[in-house]
Amino acid sequence: MATTTKTAAAPKAGRNEHTVTLTDNATGKSWTFPVMDGSIGPKVIDVRKLYADTGFFTYDPGFTSTGSCQSALTFIDGDEGVLLHRGYAIEDLAEHSDFMEVCYLLLNGELPNAAQKAKFEHDITYHTMVHEQLQYLYRGFRRDAHPMAVMVGVVGALSAFYHDSTDINDPHQRMVASHRLIAKMPTIAAMAYKYSLGQPFVYPRNDLDYATNFLRMCFAVPCEDYRINPVLSKAMDRIFILHADHEQNASTSTVRLAGSSGANPFACIAAGIASLWGPAHGGANEAVLNMLREIGSKDKVPEYVKRAKSKDSGFRLMGFGHRVYKNYDPRAAVMRKTCHEVLEELGVKDEPLLDLAMELERVALEDDYFVSKKLYPNVDFYSGIILKAMGFPTSMFTVLFALARTVGWVAQWKEMIEDPSQKIGRPRQLYTGPTKRAYVAVAKRK
Ligand code: SDX
Repeated sequence: MATTTKTAAAPKAGRNEHTVTLTDNATGKSWTFPVMDGSIGPKVIDVRKLYADTGFFTYDPGFTSTGSCQSALTFIDGDEGVLLHRGYAIEDLAEHSDFMEVCYLLLNGELPNAAQKAKFEHDITYHTMVHEQLQYLYRGFRRDAHPMAVMVGVVGALSAFYHDSTDINDPHQRMVASHRLIAKMPTIAAMAYKYSLGQPFVYPRNDLDYATNFLRMCFAVPCEDYRINPVLSKAMDRIFILHADHEQNASTSTVRLAGSSGANPFACIAAGIASLWGPAHGGANEAVLNMLREIGSKDKVPEYVKRAKSKDSGFRLMGFGHRVYKNYDPRAAVMRKTCHEVLEELGVKDEPLLDLAMELERVALEDDYFVSKKLYPNVDFYSGIILKAMGFPTSMFTVLFALARTVGWVAQWKEMIEDPSQKIGRPRQLYTGPTKRAYVAVAKRK
């Protein structure tokens, strides 16, 4: 693997005299391991030397108790329902900031001053166009292809068009690739939507802000002027903020693992998009709408809650539960508030799906199964209702999640590349297969 130049010191975790000792009761042997402190949150036991010292691996499928890296980007307190980006609470950012500021904050560690913000917005805006030949890639897909399949393909192909920003060892190229990905995702996503409709692609405009530009590329048609709705633009921008980053979730860990081999940033983000697509992860927003449509009416809610509690049903309440949040996902609370604002702006008096979602939430949160397992609505529970009201088809919901999460993936990828302790990710295993055995010629097999 090419040696990467480390341009910035990794976030230094605190080292002190705190240690833990592991004793093998079979042999009486003991080993001591250092404990590392972060700035907030659980301490970690540094087990990097565990196998060399003890001959044991750790075993943690799903990484429920494993820290994969040091990071200064995002902190979640799952018990308290707290989400911080570089120390700023998600509620404050959603209320007072905008997505471009949050992008700058995640990438650079501080909120921008006015000049920095203007330059960053300019840099992103002037990267929103895609190479003109990229449009021919879309023609290889059927019109009814799932837009997430298109996104995985098109984003993965970007390295074929932007070779001049694929050298991960060059800080300037890392920055250009980061800006290109953040800037071009709305254009690529809107093109996927237009392609599915059989409508012409709409070019980005440099006089529009990020969210408005995206909405216009999705909903403008050549036959008439597009009417900007500032309330919808603000709601879209806020939804992007709520999805920007979220510690070491499955898709972010996918991006980090892909990047640890030295793969180019476009390929890594395509891998993240593929992972996000799963219904247990970012695909849940699409699955929530499909679930609500299947439930159909409030009187069916008890039946579906009962099914969700049954191990044999294989059914789960989509948009409920979270690996980290054992309290209400703070993003879901902001999303629910935004839902009411958007529906009011659009004059939607009674959205049956929203009424149904709120009834489902009420029943579930009064049920001991969900209360005891600390299963609360997550970011995906209400988002689909807003996006549907804004005119997006269900199949585009996870595309919007990927669009917004690109800044988180890129910022985490950049942090990993610049971490001096970074190594290629290569987990071990507990082997349960056959022990060594002799080969048997086919003539002698039973
Ligand atoms: C996202 O990681 C992130 O940060 C992700 C994300 C981000 O911003 O990147 O926040 C975005 O992916 C949100 C999650 C979206 N997914 C869903 O809404 C799908 C439905 N939820 C789940 O499948 C589940 O809750 C997960 C996948 C989100 C979390 O799964 P865990 O942490 O592995 O928990 P688990 O499967 O071990 O469940 C614990 C218990 C189990 O019961 P027991 O075996 O202990 O008896 O809770 C039950 C589960 O059966 N359970 C549910 C449930 N979720 C968990 N039961 C019914 N309905 C559910 N939704």
